[in-house]
Amino acid sequence: MAISFSSTFAKNIMDGEMRAAVSETVQALAEACKQISHICARGPLEHGLGAETGAANTDGDAQKALDVRSDEIITAALETAPVAYYASEEQDDIVTLDASKPLAVASDPLDGSSNIDTNVSIGTIFSIFEAKDDARSSFLRLGSEQICGGFFVYGPQTSLVITTGAGTQTYVLDPDSGVFSLAIADMKIVPASTEYAINASNHHHWDKPIRAYIEDCLLGASGPLGEKYNMRWVGSLVADANRILSRGGIFMYPGDSRDGYAHGRLRLLYEAAPVAFVIEQAGGKATDGTGRILDISLDTLHQRVPLVFGSKTPVQMVGDYHNKKQDIL
Ligand code: AHG
Ligand code: MN
Ligand code: MN
Repeated sequence: MAISFSSTFAKNIMDGEMRAAVSETVQALAEACKQISHICARGPLEHGLGAETGAANTDGDAQKALDVRSDEIITAALETAPVAYYASEEQDDIVTLDASKPLAVASDPLDGSSNIDTNVSIGTIFSIFEAKDDARSSFLRLGSEQICGGFFVYGPQTSLVITTGAGTQTYVLDPDSGVFSLAIADMKIVPASTEYAINASNHHHWDKPIRAYIEDCLLGASGPLGEKYNMRWVGSLVADANRILSRGGIFMYPGDSRDGYAHGRLRLLYEAAPVAFVIEQAGGKATDGTGRILDISLDTLHQRVPLVFGSKTPVQMVGDYHNKKQDIL
């Protein structure tokens, strides 16, 4: 048993069979991510985890050895679980495992690939839906239809942040027992914060509202926001998301003027939607700058979306900057 579920896990999923299927699938994912965590912990002893394979995924990202290895481990785990369909950042199209099974799982098997060789926290993101009659309609839908979502972080702790729609929980892998044990039963994001996360090197590519907001954060106490701001940017979505869940803040990966970045860098299905699910369940907010992430319909499997999430007040403020007249920005 990989996880000692809290007694309340998935109790809100009314259908007992569906709840059992979700629990079994999360157990399989946890076993898989213990393997990925072990490989990450060995780092350079595993020779070439961060080496590029020479291939690229559908989104054009160079695939690294650990991206591919992690996808293989997740796929093998889901083959033992009640999962009909699997969609992955590292697979061009949907993989049909067993169409008679009740669930559909999407995953970013290894998030933060640029950090693989730097001993910085990286992770695995997952999203679980009730399968529909065919593979495509099981994923091309609203993020609000997720029945479970979350992410594993391979860092000083190996942890799992997860929700089934009844709050957000954190489990930590106990190195002594090898079991993910409940650490935080009901995570809550503080509503206000003066810490923001954005890749500031893209400043001159941003649209006016984002540029205006960040410039006002930089003005700090002497500017319109009237407070000193701090900045963090890990380059691993799961690490920034975990920090924001722990102490508040706002994360932004907006669209920008670079080729291919009109809708930002992050993918809706297996990055933005599951992160938005755990953030909202912890009392935070997740938008594309103005609209709710979980209300955005997925039209293509690897569709990108601008992503702004975290403490409610700053996320709402970024929305207000988008609604200001362009001439006063
Ligand atoms: P992935 O490694 O799965 O492609 O995800 C990387 C993402 C995300 O984890 C992170 O927030 C973002 O890319 C960093 O982007 P930049 O390298 O452009 O800062
Ligand atoms: Mn990712
Ligand atoms: Mn990835």
